[in-house]
Amino acid sequence: MNTRRLIDTAVALVAGDKGLLAMDESVGTCNKRFAKLGIPQTEEARRSYRELLVTTPNLGESISGAILYDETIRQRFNNGTLIVKAVVDAGIIPGIKVDAGTNNLAGHPGEKITEGLDGLRERLAEYSGMGARFAKWRAVIVIGDRIPSEGCIEANAHALARYAALCQEAEMVPVVEPEVLMDGNHTLEQCREATADALRAVFEQLSTQRVILEGMILKPNMVLAGLTCPKQATVHEVAEATVTCLLRAVPAAVPGIAFLSGGQYGELASARLNEMNVAFRRRAPWALTFSFARSLQQPALEIWNGEPAQVAAAQQALLDRVRCNRAARRGEYDAQLDGASPLPCFPPANPETLTGRPGKRG
Ligand code: 13P
Repeated sequence: MNTRRLIDTAVALVAGDKGLLAMDESVGTCNKRFAKLGIPQTEEARRSYRELLVTTPNLGESISGAILYDETIRQRFNNGTLIVKAVVDAGIIPGIKVDAGTNNLAGHPGEKITEGLDGLRERLAEYSGMGARFAKWRAVIVIGDRIPSEGCIEANAHALARYAALCQEAEMVPVVEPEVLMDGNHTLEQCREATADALRAVFEQLSTQRVILEGMILKPNMVLAGLTCPKQATVHEVAEATVTCLLRAVPAAVPGIAFLSGGQYGELASARLNEMNVAFRRRAPWALTFSFARSLQQPALEIWNGEPAQVAAAQQALLDRVRCNRAARRGEYDAQLDGASPLPCFPPANPETLTGRPGKRG
């Protein structure tokens, strides 16, 4: 294994003020998002949409890595160019989602286990041959009545560590994603506890499986009260709870923490990331950046709506959100300039709509 190459890639993914673009929705998830907007759920529509994303002018100025899905890494533009080649040409490191999604965890009602370890070594070799230099695996932790259980946390941590070790064997950087979901009426404190338990278990298993911490990225949730919890935290409280939790659980050897958005409004995700970098950067030993899907893409998707004439406007919306989060990494995000003043109120009238809205400017 070329450890130097692994570490260089991990460091490059979180260097400067850049972050990651997660565009690795499975066919099912992508179709669901298309269906809500009346966009045809076809391979061609998914290809056109991913083409729109990766051909956004100047995307590489703010995005270090793009996480692709199996279908996308094999697709080509209309002119025959492989999408993955266009990603590299844009100065962006290509990555790939390698988990096979979640299934019910036997004996643990309401809890999930992520699958996809079988044949993973061979799949990683294939993706590496296609140019992918990092990979992502998402575990899902649900907060509810007496859950998450120890069994769920341990099983998912073990799978994450097995995946991470296989990635490093293939000289691909593992992006380790234990996501505590924001669905539910749990408090901020409950989310902090569940997140801390999950992270502690993950790092114990990573160590047992001999994963090189310098050659990985952690992709956690922010510590948030549940979507339907009547008491919502301020931006500063979220930043403080999140960084405190991470400081207690994540070794300093990890080069970077790239948050998932979990379906937060784009402006709120930016404001919270910004506050972490304003108030806690000096105490944090790792880079604090983003690896958002919905919080970057949602306005662009809504503007595009399947219409070729809307491509340029959608690309501008993506660029706006990307630039806002780049500013948040520097601690220079201005919510008022982002058209987010006042920030969307909580709890939302309808949590179903809590995926974002067209951004104004970056
Ligand atoms: P969201 O930012 O939409 O939560 O997606 C991040 C991701 O990669 C989920 O696996």
